[in-house]
Amino acid sequence: MRFSDKNVIVTGASRGIGRAIAKGLIAEGANLALIARTKSALEELVEEAKSKGCRAVAIPADVSDRDQIKQAVERARKELKVIHGLVNSAGVLDNEGIANHSEEVWNRTFAVNVNSYFYTTRAVIGEMFERRHGHIVNIISTSGKMAIGPNRAAYVASKHALMGFTREVAVEAAPHNVTVNAICPGFVLTEMVEDSMRKFAKDFGKTVEETRQFFLDKMPTKRFIAPEEVVPIALFLLSDDVGAIMGQAISVDGGFAPL
Ligand SMILES: NC(=O)c1ccc[n+]([C@@H]2O[C@H](COP(=O)([O-])OP(=O)(O)OC[C@H]3O[C@@H](n4cnc5c(N)ncnc54)[C@H](OP(=O)(O)O)[C@@H]3O)[C@@H](O)[C@H]2O)c1
Repeated sequence: MRFSDKNVIVTGASRGIGRAIAKGLIAEGANLALIARTKSALEELVEEAKSKGCRAVAIPADVSDRDQIKQAVERARKELKVIHGLVNSAGVLDNEGIANHSEEVWNRTFAVNVNSYFYTTRAVIGEMFERRHGHIVNIISTSGKMAIGPNRAAYVASKHALMGFTREVAVEAAPHNVTVNAICPGFVLTEMVEDSMRKFAKDFGKTVEETRQFFLDKMPTKRFIAPEEVVPIALFLLSDDVGAIMGQAISVDGGFAPL
């Protein structure tokens, strides 16, 4: 199995894309530190990992809190020792029109979507530099490459910030033989997208079904992406096969934005 001697931290592991990546890693024998707030969902995944012979630890934490991330990574090190990989997938999406955009939503979006990637990266990368080995994968979005709107200013701005973060840290990491790359999914059918469609329908006086069609029409494939479709590229970017690929943001978006 490709990851049988590898230890990986995954944020946003309680559901959606992060959970699918964690399951993909378990199937390849990885040992995992699983971070999110929903303890029960993480513990379920730990049981699955153990049943397949992997070591795993559930670490409930709010990723937007610097101290909780510091402690979470210390705990991960205690349980797994060396950290070979990090997947940042925790994220939030709120729809708000810019004219009345609340600071609370703006700040929360940046705290979860941007600050958490900084906190986790900072906590693991120094040791990766020392060992001259490590792979970091940031789940960003099509919204990191283009405007997607309407009513997505905070989300799109936060994802553009992550594109800059990924590219810049990749350049800093490259001389240390550490890779930092990103994946930019289109509409993946998760709780985030279901919730966003409901909010969008309410804001624009449409039915959820009309909104669903509006979202689907943006993707040439005319279907939602399954979380599992993000997994193969995530595993590749976490593997030693990644070679000289650095600072890239690979789209898994059904042709939404072939940038
Ligand atoms: N679904 C899409 O179409 C899509 C497209 C492009 C990019 N993305 C990105 O992909 C990533 C995953 O999205 P998803 O669709 O899988 O969303 P999701 O199903 O809503 O999952 C979000 C994950 O983030 C965690 N999270 C949120 N706030 C957190 C906090 N304060 N502290 C700790 N964990 C927190 C949630 O865990 P808890 O609630 O248990 O804490 C959950 O595990 C996000 O970065 C998102 O922006 C998604």
